[in-house]
Amino acid sequence: MARKKAKKKATRKHSRKRKERIKAKKVTASNIQKEKVKRELKISAIDEGTVIDHIPTDATFKVVEILDMENQKGIVSIATNLQSKSIGKKGIIKVGGKSLTQDEVNKIAIVAPDATVNIIKNYGVREKIKVKTPEIIDNVVKCSNPVCITNNEQIATKFYVVKKDPIKIKCHYCERSMGKDDIEII
Ligand code: CTP
Ligand code: ZN
Repeated sequence: MARKKAKKKATRKHSRKRKERIKAKKVTASNIQKEKVKRELKISAIDEGTVIDHIPTDATFKVVEILDMENQKGIVSIATNLQSKSIGKKGIIKVGGKSLTQDEVNKIAIVAPDATVNIIKNYGVREKIKVKTPEIIDNVVKCSNPVCITNNEQIATKFYVVKKDPIKIKCHYCERSMGKDDIEII
């Protein structure tokens, strides 16, 4: 008798466990929502600093190089391959505590002509600057032609911007044409 009871108890326990397991797996709208939230990439807002947004995905790390991220003291967040309504896939860089120099903004314009530079103060967007590709690029880009005089003598490079987006530039000295994939920032 006692054994029977014990068996019954065990069965009950077992079936309760099974029920619980099934319950845990239940797919509800709120569970799906929670999963979605978990999978979303969140980059924290910054209180003070600069956010460079709308960077073409393939230029994200070129912008990282321009900004000398390794020596930053504040929080630096870099994200790339994010979905963007306007430019397909984009990169975004958030640099806490840093304001960009005009020189840095000019360099960014060469590799990311659609970028927006947001200046953040006290968690708000204080200023939104649309970068502008210059007509002439002085001493910023390395000429890809190994026999160009700028690669063999102490002469600053100089390029004319032939087309802005996608960028096409021409060396003042050797007339070499370069596109975005050849551009190496000095
Ligand atoms: N941002 C941030 N920290 C803040 C405020 C803004 O990191 N304290 C970031 C936002 O995540 C966004 C960018 O700065 O990537 C610009 O912010 P905002 O102008 O509010 O966004 P959008 O209206 O989407 O910008 P845009 O119109 O340029 O696409
Ligand atoms: Zn050249």
